[in-house]
Amino acid sequence: MSEAMFRLDNKVAVITGAATGLGAAAAVALASAGAHLGISDRPGESLEDVAANAGQYGRRVFKFAMDVRVLDQIQAGIAAVESEFGHIDILVNNAGINRPTPGLEVTPENWDDHYATNVKGGFFVAQAAAKLMIPRGWGRIIFIASQSGLIAIPGQCVYCSTKGAMIQLARALGVEWAKHGITVNAVAPTFVETNLTRDRLQDPEFLRFVLGKIPCGKLATPQDVAAAVVYLASEDAGMVNASVLTVDGGWTAW
Ligand SMILES: NC(=O)c1ccc[n+]([C@@H]2O[C@H](COP(=O)([O-])OP(=O)(O)OC[C@H]3O[C@@H](n4cnc5c(N)ncnc54)[C@H](O)[C@@H]3O)[C@@H](O)[C@H]2O)c1
Repeated sequence: MSEAMFRLDNKVAVITGAATGLGAAAAVALASAGAHLGISDRPGESLEDVAANAGQYGRRVFKFAMDVRVLDQIQAGIAAVESEFGHIDILVNNAGINRPTPGLEVTPENWDDHYATNVKGGFFVAQAAAKLMIPRGWGRIIFIASQSGLIAIPGQCVYCSTKGAMIQLARALGVEWAKHGITVNAVAPTFVETNLTRDRLQDPEFLRFVLGKIPCGKLATPQDVAAAVVYLASEDAGMVNASVLTVDGGWTAW
């Protein structure tokens, strides 16, 4: 065990969907633990705030645009990080969408958008990052999945299925890439108030349903999730592989 646990000094961490919410919190937490950052989001999304917040820890922060649905942008984005830092140690596959729609109303477009972003995008970013990690014999890949990959939430069947797929990707890739010194894990948070959830959580009936399901009676915070990311990214978590770390206050346990 290292003297100061969960330090990431001089590691290079890439975070997708880092402009807001859980991705922004993870970026700041990784920088506070010592990592240099490659932060990305869709073209047109501002990364200025998160870069300023993360920059206060004195680490290098490299911003780049990358829509994870577009394979050319993934190749260009990961290449840009490589030319900036020379390598990647940590990938946080955080970019994601959720457009809750009852099963009978799901369109092919709704289905494709969720899978292109949450599953296909996450997979191909992981593949591109792993190609840089393998020659160095060390890497950490963290999928921000969801408790929705473990349990069902009414009205968001497509999202739930993508998060289940992300968990299975973390398991399967973790098993496949362990021999290269890479761990691949999933984090499964409960509800956190972000742009993704704010509208729904403002509905008192929905909020009551959510809080009634969380044994500790409160939502998770972006920092709760970021702490799990820092742990999984650290040397200390080297034996934690192909697993799912719930950050759900106990929702999925009962
Ligand atoms: N908020 C929650 O309650 C919650 C719970 C469990 C899991 N999650 C997951 O956490 C992740 C972050 O969600 P959040 O709550 O911070 O939402 P958010 O909407 O605040 O942030 C998502 C970010 O992903 C970016 N993004 C969306 N599509 C993209 C694309 N094609 N390419 C690149 N970036 C893209 C968005 O621009 C945004 O900055 C998502 O994967 C989400 O499914 C959120």
